[in-house]
Amino acid sequence: MSLVPMRVLLDHAAENDYGLAAFNVNNMEQIQAIMAAAEETESPVIIQASRGARDYTNDAYLRHLMLAAAELHPQIPIAMHQDHGNSPETCLSAIEQGFTSVMMDGSLEADGKTPAGFEYNVQVTRQVVEAAHARGVTVEGELGCLGGVEDGHGAGLSSAEALKHLTDPAQAEEFVARTGVDALAVAIGTSHGAYKFTKKPTGDVLVMSVIEEIHRRLPKTHLVMHGSSSVPQELLDIIRKYGGEMRETYGVPVEEIRRGIANGVRKINVDTDNRLAMTGAIRKVFATKKGEFDPRKYLAPAREAMKRVCLARMTAFGQAGNAAKLNPTTCREMAGAY
Ligand code: G3H
Ligand code: 13P
Ligand code: ZN
Repeated sequence: MSLVPMRVLLDHAAENDYGLAAFNVNNMEQIQAIMAAAEETESPVIIQASRGARDYTNDAYLRHLMLAAAELHPQIPIAMHQDHGNSPETCLSAIEQGFTSVMMDGSLEADGKTPAGFEYNVQVTRQVVEAAHARGVTVEGELGCLGGVEDGHGAGLSSAEALKHLTDPAQAEEFVARTGVDALAVAIGTSHGAYKFTKKPTGDVLVMSVIEEIHRRLPKTHLVMHGSSSVPQELLDIIRKYGGEMRETYGVPVEEIRRGIANGVRKINVDTDNRLAMTGAIRKVFATKKGEFDPRKYLAPAREAMKRVCLARMTAFGQAGNAAKLNPTTCREMAGAY
């Protein structure tokens, strides 16, 4: 199966009450880890690349790696998604590179730092929707701001400040109606990166009630949770055990994500958990086999550690077992459906 529009995966997930993890990638081992987990669990997959990832891979390496994944796993539906596009230009260049889905993150201005006004967000998102849907490409928008900064992307809000930028459910209704997005990323108090919460989060800092209210108002809109790594304590412990430094921190518990899935969340973004898993595995090799210098000897365990995380999320979110149930739809066919 060639790469499919993300909308096809989201629609199937909504019809069958499950969620899909969207994993970030930057290199071959990460793509292999996701595909191995997808193969084992028979899961459809969303693989996403940030602007930083596209820069790191010079687009061409990434494009060919994704095509290799599709060639080697013809029975797995794969959507290739631009994560946090900062401008219509970024989204259009992703479409040119063969991405089947783009995020126009107009919650921030094009600098990827400054919280943007509502009208700006509507205007750039609408512009991307028009161009993308003509080609059958899916569009995710974002309303509200997350905390943290990843590779220069993000308003740099503290967890407390992020609580002042939660998605407004009434505005969400207007945003979806005016832009025509396929999916909406919502801000509910999470942050990108490892440092999300100082203790296991409760409803005052991880505001799941916002999702419930948006889903009540927009039952047909696919919702997206960003900053949704669970930051497992055991992964932090492995990094610490082998010489790394990680402060005390807590992520988004899987049970809260499942609560989101019961309330319209169809895409769950996970990057940090995979970074932690790979880093712990590499540190372990470096600490325990000091004479080792063959990259395969530490990249293979890193790949295996990431695969374990992907497997666990695919199973917990319910996407496992659904690969063969999806209709193989192309972007061309999807364009006709809008
Ligand atoms: O948006 C956050 C993702 O974790 C991507 O991070 O920009 O460092 O690739 P990155
Ligand atoms: P995490 O940092 O929680 O993995 O979030 C990733 C993300 O939201 C990518 O867009
Ligand atoms: Zn994100």
